[in-house]
Amino acid sequence: MRNIVLLTALLMMAVVLSLYDAGSGWCEDNASDAQLQNSDCVKCHPEIVHQNQQAGGKHKTEVGCLDCHEGGHPPKVPGEKIIPKCSKCHEGEEHFQLEGCLRCHQNPHTPLNIVFSGDNNMPACATCHPEQVDEIKSNPSAHAEVDCTFCHTKHGYIPSCLKCHEPHREGQQFKDCVSCHQVHQPLNVTYGDNVPNKDCGACHGDLEQELESGHTKHAKLKCVFCHKNKHGVRPACQDCHGVPHPPKMMKRFKKCVDCHVDPHNLVK
Ligand code: HEC
Ligand code: HEC
Ligand code: HEC
Ligand code: HEC
Ligand code: HEC
Ligand code: HEC
Ligand code: HEC
Ligand code: HEC
Ligand code: HEC
Ligand code: HEC
Ligand code: HEC
Ligand code: HEC
Repeated sequence: MRNIVLLTALLMMAVVLSLYDAGSGWCEDNASDAQLQNSDCVKCHPEIVHQNQQAGGKHKTEVGCLDCHEGGHPPKVPGEKIIPKCSKCHEGEEHFQLEGCLRCHQNPHTPLNIVFSGDNNMPACATCHPEQVDEIKSNPSAHAEVDCTFCHTKHGYIPSCLKCHEPHREGQQFKDCVSCHQVHQPLNVTYGDNVPNKDCGACHGDLEQELESGHTKHAKLKCVFCHKNKHGVRPACQDCHGVPHPPKMMKRFKKCVDCHVDPHNLVK
């Protein structure tokens, strides 16, 4: 134990001595020495070095402290002179034309620790996700009225619809919502052929009951088998059946439902 204390004291002295420059304030003056190495910074800026070690990403592996903070050190060189502009190294992409890089990349020593703030981030998102921005802008809805970060509060985070909305029926999950709604154009309800009848039945409960309690072959069909792809589509009987009866018979009854009554409650 004693040895450790002694060793630490010696080490500290060595550090102080190595920094000591006769005739002036020791710390700042020595730090401004052109001979400063990357390995020296930890002595006086341990927290930043620690952050950089933990989460520096390419600002740890591709560049060192002195690649960014070059040209001296306070007090010989004013502090602001050794703060680099991001454009010193990042140029030539749309993303790098944005204002205020540090608004999102709040700490240059941990550049992928991104924090969104404010409510006008859409132009920044557009530099990398132009499709989503186009989609939301060209399909007016309440979702287009809010900033992207209203929902994506952290980069890459995807919220569930249920965080903000009640489901149409009990037990409905996020994956069910997106089988009918595309979140960036929520008013265009389109779907594949897997939507269960009960999801339509959430709003058309009477028709669901009517259909499923029938005794014809229509009772076995899914809503979305007939109402394909887009909400509100009304198919014609002939789309699937053509006209299976002789013209003479059809002359007297103009409509299929004159005899078959109702596709959801078919009479045969
Ligand atoms: C990719 C460039 C870059 C690298 C690499 C970098 N820095 Fe910085 N550093 C900056 C920028 C930019 C600022 C100004 C941040 C601000 O204005 O909020 C800064 C600020 C600082 C500050 C003053 C602000 C404060 O928080 O006290 C210190 C000290 C500092 N850096 C030390 C270091 C050390 C030590 C390293 C190496 C582990 C390092 N930097 C690596 C870009 C960098
Ligand atoms: C002996 C201690 C010491 C060492 C070693 C040291 N610094 Fe500093 N550094 C300071 C002090 C003290 C300040 C504050 C000076 C001031 O504000 O006038 C400072 C300020 C800074 C600033 C802030 C400039 C500003 O005003 O925003 C940066 C950047 C910086 N150091 C980077 C480094 C880097 C990079 C290294 C390693 C290459 C390093 N320092 C090594 C003591 C040190
Ligand atoms: C001295 C050069 C230099 C400066 C100054 C600099 N960077 Fe970098 N940065 C790099 C290099 C090199 C890489 C790795 C290659 C690349 O992704 O372009 C990098 C990568 C990054 C990354 C990706 C990190 C990762 O791990 O994938 C971000 C984010 C970033 N920089 C943001 C910034 C921001 C914001 C600033 C200004 C505060 C800045 N950089 C200033 C050199 C620099
Ligand atoms: C609105 C927030 C925001 C602003 C403002 C912003 N960035 Fe980014 N930046 C991001 C996000 C989000 C990523 C993606 C990170 C990922 O891939 O995980 C990113 C990634 C990066 C990358 C790494 C990927 C690449 O394309 O090389 C660099 C470098 C970078 N930004 C530099 C900058 C610079 C320089 C500025 C200022 C001119 C800036 N950023 C402004 C949010 C922002
Ligand atoms: C510098 C480029 C860049 C910027 C700026 C950027 N992103 Fe990203 N984003 C990416 C990359 C790269 C990925 C990961 C690749 C992927 O999964 O498509 C990603 C992934 C995402 C994901 C997750 C995708 C998934 O399938 O899991 C969301 C959500 C996202 N970004 C939203 C945003 C929002 C919102 C903004 C603006 C506030 C933004 N991004 C800004 C590059 C960026
Ligand atoms: C109302 C909330 C909300 C808003 C506003 C919003 N998103 Fe999304 N975003 C989501 C949800 C939820 C998903 C997942 C959708 C899914 O899985 O089908 C998503 C998915 C994404 C993805 C992953 C790829 C994809 O298209 O599924 C990206 C990238 C993305 N959003 C970017 C953005 C951008 C950029 C904006 C702003 C123009 C934005 N989002 C606005 C909720 C939102
Ligand atoms: C972070 C909150 C949030 C999330 C997550 C979210 N929404 Fe919304 N949504 C809103 C707000 C706020 C409105 C406008 C007020 C309202 O109608 O409740 C809205 C409106 C809507 C509307 C009506 C649009 C209009 O213009 O009238 C639909 C449809 C919708 N959301 C579906 C969804 C679906 C589906 C998801 C998931 C894929 C989702 N929302 C995720 C907040 C959210
Ligand atoms: C079977 C398809 C389908 C599924 C699954 C579905 N929706 Fe809808 N949703 C619709 C239709 C169709 C409308 C439009 C009704 C209208 O025109 O009034 C709608 C309207 C909405 C609205 C607008 C306000 C309202 O209630 O009329 C919100 C919000 C919404 N859905 C959220 C959700 C959420 C959250 C989920 C998942 C829990 C979900 N939807 C699942 C088809 C669906
Ligand atoms: C959130 C409630 C909601 C859900 C879920 C819903 N609908 Fe509707 N649907 C409505 C409302 C409200 C109307 C009447 C207003 C209109 O025409 O948009 C309607 C109308 C219709 C119409 C008639 C359109 C016309 O021309 O009159 C059809 C067909 C239809 N829905 C089929 C379906 C099918 C199939 C599903 C399941 C994939 C479904 N609906 C899910 C609310 C819903
Ligand atoms: C065998 C095909 C078929 C099936 C299965 C089917 N429908 Fe229909 N549906 C039709 C046809 C055809 C019409 C148009 C009737 C007309 O125009 O007179 C229609 C009309 C509608 C309408 C418009 C209002 C009305 O009553 O005319 C709604 C709403 C509707 N269907 C919902 C549903 C729902 C919900 C389901 C599942 C529970 C479903 N349909 C299953 C063929 C079908
Ligand atoms: C999207 C396609 C589709 C539409 C639209 C459709 N049907 Fe059918 N219908 C079917 C299928 C599939 C069957 C079962 C055929 C089989 O199994 O042989 C069927 C069966 C029938 C049967 C025989 C029922 C039985 O139990 O034997 C009648 C009658 C019939 N449909 C009448 C109609 C009438 C009338 C309409 C319009 C109001 C209509 N269908 C609309 C697909 C459709
Ligand atoms: C005058 C009344 C009448 C009209 C109008 C009518 N049907 Fe029929 N349809 C019948 C009768 C009765 C049967 C039962 C024959 C049987 O079970 O052998 C039948 C049987 C069917 C069948 C089942 C055939 C099979 O092989 O099982 C289909 C499909 C059908 N009709 C479709 C239609 C369509 C589509 C229309 C409109 C273009 C239509 N029907 C108009 C009376 C009618």
